[in-house]
Amino acid sequence: MCGIVGYVGSQEATPIILDGLGRLEYRGYDSAGVAVLQQANIEVRRDVGKLINLRHRVYQQPIHGSIGIGHTRWATHGVPAEHNAHPHVSMNGDFVVVHNGIVENYQELREELTAEGVTFTSETDTEVIVQLVERLAANGVHDLTEAARQTVKHLRGAHAIVLMSRHQPDRLVAIRIGNAGGVAIGVGEQENYVASDMPAILEYTRRMVFLETRQIATITADGITLQTLDGAPVEAVIHNIPYDPVSAVKGEYKHFMQKEIYEQPRSITDTIRGRIDFEHQTVHIPELNLTAERAQSLTRMVTVACGTSYYSGLVGKFFIEHMARLNVEVDYGSEYRYRDPILDANTAVLAITQSGETVDTLAALEEAREKKSLIWSIVNAIGSQAMRVADGYITMNAGPEIGVASTKAFTTSIVDQYLLALYLGQLRGTLKPDVLHRYTQDIARLPNLVGQTLELENHIEELARLFYKASNFLYLGRGINYPIALEGALKLKEISYIHAEGYPAGEMKHGPIALIDEQMPVLAIALKDSVYDKMISQIEQSKARGGKVIAVATEGDEFTSRVTWPKA
Ligand code: M6R
Repeated sequence: MCGIVGYVGSQEATPIILDGLGRLEYRGYDSAGVAVLQQANIEVRRDVGKLINLRHRVYQQPIHGSIGIGHTRWATHGVPAEHNAHPHVSMNGDFVVVHNGIVENYQELREELTAEGVTFTSETDTEVIVQLVERLAANGVHDLTEAARQTVKHLRGAHAIVLMSRHQPDRLVAIRIGNAGGVAIGVGEQENYVASDMPAILEYTRRMVFLETRQIATITADGITLQTLDGAPVEAVIHNIPYDPVSAVKGEYKHFMQKEIYEQPRSITDTIRGRIDFEHQTVHIPELNLTAERAQSLTRMVTVACGTSYYSGLVGKFFIEHMARLNVEVDYGSEYRYRDPILDANTAVLAITQSGETVDTLAALEEAREKKSLIWSIVNAIGSQAMRVADGYITMNAGPEIGVASTKAFTTSIVDQYLLALYLGQLRGTLKPDVLHRYTQDIARLPNLVGQTLELENHIEELARLFYKASNFLYLGRGINYPIALEGALKLKEISYIHAEGYPAGEMKHGPIALIDEQMPVLAIALKDSVYDKMISQIEQSKARGGKVIAVATEGDEFTSRVTWPKA
């Protein structure tokens, strides 16, 4: 998972940056690098594997200077290799960048720049950023902040970016767009720091400024200037971070659950990383240890999981059946072993478990092992039992989930199943290349879309104020949105202590509709999909019985907004 660290001041930058990267090691990475302005030149050292390799490289070829940036990378575009590791330098060596996020339109930008004569030295999406900055400089935009602002107008997706220029050796420029992870600026005495994660720089200062989305910071040793991307000045509010390490990790959030909700765009990016080769439109999951022959021999898949992970499995069933044409059953881990399930060597049993230690889910895996089935797991906790006992696994890459209520593990385990479906489809020959291409493009857009959804927080808070006294709630969905409704109801029960039921909307007329009256709010997931009309009809029926309906609708769907209450 990617991490960023930067420093500007009067001390040697390299040890501070390496130290900060070391504090992010827990997030995992496959390569790392550092760039420091040494006299008038940008010097870069990069290496694959553990940070110790980079440290050795720097020891053998030291770099001295008091401004620099560093990065730990988990590959998305381009294999883990030295030339793909960040920082990336522009063609003429004038600019350097580190980046978290995915440049969704990097292929078209790369083609455009290549046609203009730019030579790329990596396969990454990130490199287009620094080449765009250099193109602007060649066209007279010499100020780094301005060049950064103009560059990001060309980029689609969510990003955290830090840039350095050899022509303005006193500054770093940091930008945040959407939720590809945060940008924390550490305020020191005649020196300043920047990092994707506060723990990287907390050793040096507890005074932090957090960039909001679409803000740009110019960071020198003397100060920090904030602006919006439109150029409006923004006051830099300094937060004093308390000493205790828990609060430090919690950062600007009220509690861990909120933090983890906001981490989703980054977690999802980290989950996609390295598994899709966007250039060749192929999916790679080597940890699954699966050959095409074995994938083709499978006749069935059984997903076992508990709670939120079970609902995630119900969502994944839609992808795997559709893309890989493999029949999927989903079962509760806690029920599975008590009913003598039918399993054989041509069945793959997939356990989904954030912790990797849920006893019921592990017991279901034991049952599968005894019956000679293939065992897979989707886990978040690296090294957990479910990962160790499986024949193959896929990690969620969500980072530690400290909140008891599962949030980012739900979405990342769904992403894992989407990738599994693509991978199985590729190996089993059930996905045509153009369809695979479309699906990989779709998933690359997801982190940014999730980030946009998080921007609705204030509106959702208003709704919560209207309904917090309700004693019961119904969550309705159809198709793939039925398990989403189940998970929504679970969260309401678990967090708000309000009784809630998730129900397949089409089943309401078979009895439960009798429950709906003005005391029974209904949350209806009514997206513009193949069952949209049926969901609208369900909303009308609920309203006819006095129910108050909150619709989760597709952006711009005026019709749903008119028929639901209260107005969005
Ligand atoms: O670690 P696991 O995914 O195996 O945990 C399974 C459930 O206990 C868990 O998903 C639980 O339902 C959630 N924490 C609820 O938010």
